[in-house]
Amino acid sequence: MRVTIVSLVFVLAVSYVPALCDNDEPSVVHLEAPAETRSHFAALDDVRLLANGLLQLGQSLREFVQKTKGQINDIVQKLNIFDRSFYQLSVLASEIKEEEEELKKTTVVLKANNEEIKGLSVEISSKMESILQEKSRLQNKVEGLEEKLSSLSQGVMRGKQVAELSALREVIHNQEQSITELLNAVREQSDQLNHQRTKIKLLEEKLTANTLAQETIDRMPDTFNSGAPTLSLYVSSDSPNMMNLPSDCSELFDRGERVSAVYTIKPNGSQPFMAFCDMSRDYGATVIQRRRDGSVNFDQTWEQYENGFGDFTGEFWLGLRKIHSLSFKGNSVLHMQLEDWKQDKHFIEYRFYLDGPESNYTIHLTHLSGNVPDPMSNHTGIMFSTKDRDNNNHQDSNCARHQTGGWWFNACGDTNLNGKYFHVRPKGRSERRRGIQWKSGRRASYSLRFTQISVHPVASLTSASSESGLFR
Ligand SMILES: *[C@@H]1O[C@H](CO)[C@@H](O)[C@H](O)[C@H]1NC(C)=O
Ligand SMILES: *[C@@H]1O[C@H](CO)[C@@H](O)[C@H](O)[C@H]1NC(C)=O
Ligand SMILES: *[C@@H]1O[C@H](CO)[C@@H](O)[C@H](O)[C@H]1NC(C)=O
Repeated sequence: MRVTIVSLVFVLAVSYVPALCDNDEPSVVHLEAPAETRSHFAALDDVRLLANGLLQLGQSLREFVQKTKGQINDIVQKLNIFDRSFYQLSVLASEIKEEEEELKKTTVVLKANNEEIKGLSVEISSKMESILQEKSRLQNKVEGLEEKLSSLSQGVMRGKQVAELSALREVIHNQEQSITELLNAVREQSDQLNHQRTKIKLLEEKLTANTLAQETIDRMPDTFNSGAPTLSLYVSSDSPNMMNLPSDCSELFDRGERVSAVYTIKPNGSQPFMAFCDMSRDYGATVIQRRRDGSVNFDQTWEQYENGFGDFTGEFWLGLRKIHSLSFKGNSVLHMQLEDWKQDKHFIEYRFYLDGPESNYTIHLTHLSGNVPDPMSNHTGIMFSTKDRDNNNHQDSNCARHQTGGWWFNACGDTNLNGKYFHVRPKGRSERRRGIQWKSGRRASYSLRFTQISVHPVASLTSASSESGLFR
């Protein structure tokens, strides 16, 4: 391309030179005209004039050539610049192409994942089916045996036979119970799977939207806010292997367990239930709340807050009934981990007791330690409130509806760790007040990035300020 333009410039230059000569021609002709009546001197003059004219011509030619050279340099420079930006453009284009390929690949992987989960779900439901069949088969057997027993007992029967039969009955009864347990576990797994599946679907949709137009990040919370699966209520307690359950995560820790995970626990006076144990510190803590990405909608009803909701691997609320049973011992510590968007980590601890449902889960707090101001110093005696059950102190206003989420609201506008998860600071003041807040006095609203609330007994309070392990 450069060559053609340069040659074009040359052609132009060549065609321009004769034109220049044409301009000077009349003077040359004019000089030659008087040569018809020539004398030697006149001829000499003529020659000198001619030479002068030629000299001038030569000079202007040189100027012209220099000017043209400058122009050609200019053009060559411009061409260089053009070439460079053309090259940059092509690099950009190939980068965009690569990104597109990458996105396509990710979509394919996500699709495969979704298929796999679908398969798993189908497998589980077929398993459930067969378990149900097995159960009804066993029930029939038991009924048959019972009939036999009654008919036998009418006749004369040896004591040994009776004992055998009752033992058999016991075995079958136990089997039935463990099947029920298994069923519960499978159902729970299935629920969790379904939740994951909807999450993947949402991600997939987001990916598709991304290839068309870049999505604004502040729309993200709404797409995630749809689902909040109910946490399983209680685990059946009658079976023999449920006898030796720990009363909380602290007891599990004392038994040597060091892995942070979901375990079955049975607090004194409560049915057994599943709970997430944080074993990352020098004691076991039963986690009752976690926020970290806005994947679960915390604007839930009283019933949901009472029973618990969310996903143990992500965000969840354990449930007021279970929290009440965890603080039953009366020597519990409430530990709150708080993290802002500058990655600053804080904590605060209270001596804690939670009343039961008859008192609308009234909270009792005594400040123990921490490295943040304590905005809950006045919260002892406050009942729990949700948008559908307003128990806060504020006469004319429903704080749970204003701030969203269930909490022990003293007055509207105060602390609320169950508020709305914001990825970016909202513009409006009333919207900002709905955030995950930890504030004292009249400070401006700030929505936290991460919170985790856990409970452990006072006895295991060996190093309260150690903040080494955070579960992510
Ligand atoms: C469990 O509760 C019962 C009665 O409520 C009490 O006698 C017992 O000591 C408690 N056990 C523990 C380990 O707290
Ligand atoms: C608990 O809350 C309900 C509904 O808000 C209310 O009617 C009831 O009086 C409360 N119970 C107590 C003990 O205050
Ligand atoms: C706590 O209660 C006292 C007395 O009722 C009051 O003066 C104070 O402002 C309250 N503090 C907060 C943080 O609500």
